[in-house]
Amino acid sequence: MANILIVYGTTEGQTAKIAQHIGARLEQQGHEATSMLASDAMEMDLAGYDPVVVGASVHEGRYQKDVRQFVEAHQATLEPRRTAFFSVSLGAVSADPQERAEVDKLMQEFCSSCGWTPSLTRSFAGALRYTQYSWLKRQVMRHIVAKEGGPTDTTQDFEFTDWDDVSRFAEELVDS
Ligand SMILES: Cc1cc2nc3c(=O)[nH]c(=O)nc-3n(C[C@H](O)[C@H](O)[C@H](O)COP(=O)(O)O)c2cc1C
Repeated sequence: MANILIVYGTTEGQTAKIAQHIGARLEQQGHEATSMLASDAMEMDLAGYDPVVVGASVHEGRYQKDVRQFVEAHQATLEPRRTAFFSVSLGAVSADPQERAEVDKLMQEFCSSCGWTPSLTRSFAGALRYTQYSWLKRQVMRHIVAKEGGPTDTTQDFEFTDWDDVSRFAEELVDS
């Protein structure tokens, strides 16, 4: 039985939902899983956890600052261990292969700039939470999404996450 720590950053909640789904899937398989915000995990002793999983979402081409701070603070502990990183974005669901490649590049640049080589990385599609955005953010997101041919009804939220893919990632974490 593995004892897994999932540390994440989230701005509108989708990465938290994915972290919880990973934790629930692992618990179903008889493992122990703890998920927590990166901002609450800065002082954590990672010694008893294997693997340690880190997740973050993309906003304006970057991941949450707290997640970078967590990885940098724990780099020496993370680097030699079994670890994983997952990215959450809308670029991951884009029809444009260049947009998807941008997300992959961002993941690689993030990890290498932290001096960290996770054993497993994965890019998940996130969500559009029009109803949670401020008026300005809603207009900006609608404009960006319209250019991509995505949904523009701002009275609704849209979730693009493939939950089966998230479950498969959880299984790979402990199988690898
Ligand atoms: C203001 C804003 C900026 C965003 N910028 C990007 C971006 O640069 N690239 C991208 O692929 N997705 C971008 N997204 C989409 C988010 O990554 C997506 O909504 C994700 O589900 C957010 O996860 P969270 O709820 O955990 O923060 C942006 C979303 C918002 C609201």
